[in-house]
Amino acid sequence: MTRATPRIIVTAAGDFGRTAAAAILELLATFHTPVVGLSTGNTPVAVYAALLDMARQRPGLLACIARAFAIDEYVCPRGDPAANRAFFAQHWSTIPGAPPVEQFDPDAPDLAVEAERVAALLARAGGLDLALVGIGTNGHLAFNEPGSTADSTVRVVELAPESRTAAFAFGPEPPRLGMTLGMRELLGARRVLLLANGRGKAAIIERALRGPVSSACPASFLQLHGALTVVLDTAAASGLDSLAHPGG
Ligand code: PGA
Repeated sequence: MTRATPRIIVTAAGDFGRTAAAAILELLATFHTPVVGLSTGNTPVAVYAALLDMARQRPGLLACIARAFAIDEYVCPRGDPAANRAFFAQHWSTIPGAPPVEQFDPDAPDLAVEAERVAALLARAGGLDLALVGIGTNGHLAFNEPGSTADSTVRVVELAPESRTAAFAFGPEPPRLGMTLGMRELLGARRVLLLANGRGKAAIIERALRGPVSSACPASFLQLHGALTVVLDTAAASGLDSLAHPGG
């Protein structure tokens, strides 16, 4: 296992969305017709809003994207307003020229078969060129919760308590299950862009980027990825100065 040195971009909180959007465009430009994996949650809201602003000026901005895949979904009624599907409708599909997102169908009669369907679609597309990921306070990437191994694949998972707590938009009974791309699909992406903002992410960013590489913190496997870019606001980056960088 070789640790790679990520490119870490630290920005003021107010510039987070624009800086991350610029990083996305720069990474997309390294491919002809990229296949991208897209995250949801609070973190990318300002990022997709910045892409929306930019695409209003330049409608062809995202035209290069060949395919877009959601990296995860809750197992909940398909029409639930707290589902990731609803997030994409609100924050992604409103961007002029944004390609449709291929998503898990949480209403599929057999969720394991649904996971296989998405896995096959992604494999036929050639895998991800760019994976856009946030990080959970427990170190999850997509819904690869602690304990997920680097070779885990697309599957149905039990959500960790932290993930259920974060899913407060569902009300008092958040979903127990999720569907997710595996660590294999995320780590297999030609480029990975990890996004985090806010003080609440400082400790897990430090652990993921500087701590031991272990399935106890699935995001730590990104230390082994040779083409990782990280965009942080100053609050999320605030833990990184306290430890010496492990180097190559
Ligand atoms: P958040 O979620 O952006 O809502 O903090 C990130 C994640 O759980 O991956």
